[in-house]
Amino acid sequence: MNARGRSGSSQRSGSGQRSNSGQRSSSGQRGGSGQRGGSGQRGSGGGSDRPQGRSAGPAAEPAPDELAGLSPEARARLRALRSMGLEDDGDDDFGDEGDRDDLTDVPGGVRLQKVLAAAGVGSRRHCEELIGAGRVEVDGQTVRRFGARVDPENQIIRVDGKRIPARQDVVYLAFNKPRGVLTSMSDDRGRKTITDYLGDRAERLFHVGRLDYDTEGLMLLTNDGELAHRLAHPSYEVAKTYWAEVPGPVSRDLGRQLQSGVELEDGVAVADKFRVLEQSGSRAMVEITLHEGRKHIVRRMLAEVGHPVSRLVRTTVGPVKLGSMRPGTTRDLTTKEIGELYAAVGM
Ligand code: URA
Repeated sequence: MNARGRSGSSQRSGSGQRSNSGQRSSSGQRGGSGQRGGSGQRGSGGGSDRPQGRSAGPAAEPAPDELAGLSPEARARLRALRSMGLEDDGDDDFGDEGDRDDLTDVPGGVRLQKVLAAAGVGSRRHCEELIGAGRVEVDGQTVRRFGARVDPENQIIRVDGKRIPARQDVVYLAFNKPRGVLTSMSDDRGRKTITDYLGDRAERLFHVGRLDYDTEGLMLLTNDGELAHRLAHPSYEVAKTYWAEVPGPVSRDLGRQLQSGVELEDGVAVADKFRVLEQSGSRAMVEITLHEGRKHIVRRMLAEVGHPVSRLVRTTVGPVKLGSMRPGTTRDLTTKEIGELYAAVGM
């Protein structure tokens, strides 16, 4: 799958300046002029890579005769899709009204390959190939017909079994939280919060879980309430990895100790993995992976085994990696990362 969002170059600085209009293109990159591309004209080259997605302008009202014969629900859905610029664009994709698949065709819906392309799966041509190869499912049913119309708001679409982020109003971001920033969207004591790094984003974002004020590194931000809720819920705890600077030297036995469980005041905490990354004199950098979400868990575990943490950086959350993101910047998660997060929490 192609990246839904660009890491690196799509990073925004701590000033929160956004260099673009926030539109998502067919390759999943935010960018563009604010115009809705993908007029649906398919040239001889087939699938288009032109920007698609939300319309910058007001929703076009369907012509009255288009609504005739539709149920009130279908009308409402068509209006909603239009308001997002996702209505059918009259392109000459395969399939027509008489060719509908009862189980997957939504009246007034959006052509499946267009939804896939807008979600960052690839060009429309590539998406058509995926559909033709039987690799795309809508609500659990394999759809092989290019013209199938779907409702990206309400249907679950999977490619190779992985759910894709079909809704256009939902964002998924990685944020490199700097040290000295509160994991909160506001603070009545005037401390820096995540909001200070988000610029003019219109969405109401949630942070997934928390990092201590002094902990740096990867945080996930989204307005997908269900994903955020599940990722933060103890029954779905995904693995998280941290780099910790601690006093050295670190004994050979420390990993075994942490992986067999450390007794804390609120119960035993167990590391999934542990390794020493670097040792020099009286300092060491260690890497620890765990599923735990309890408060100050890494600091408490390492203090308990005699290595109080002086610096803590979270480097992964499930399938998402911090990589080379600069502190204070955000990037869109890729379609693959989002699919893996959905899978991790059973969505
Ligand atoms: N463990 C900690 O001790 N602090 C964090 O911020 C996250 C995990």
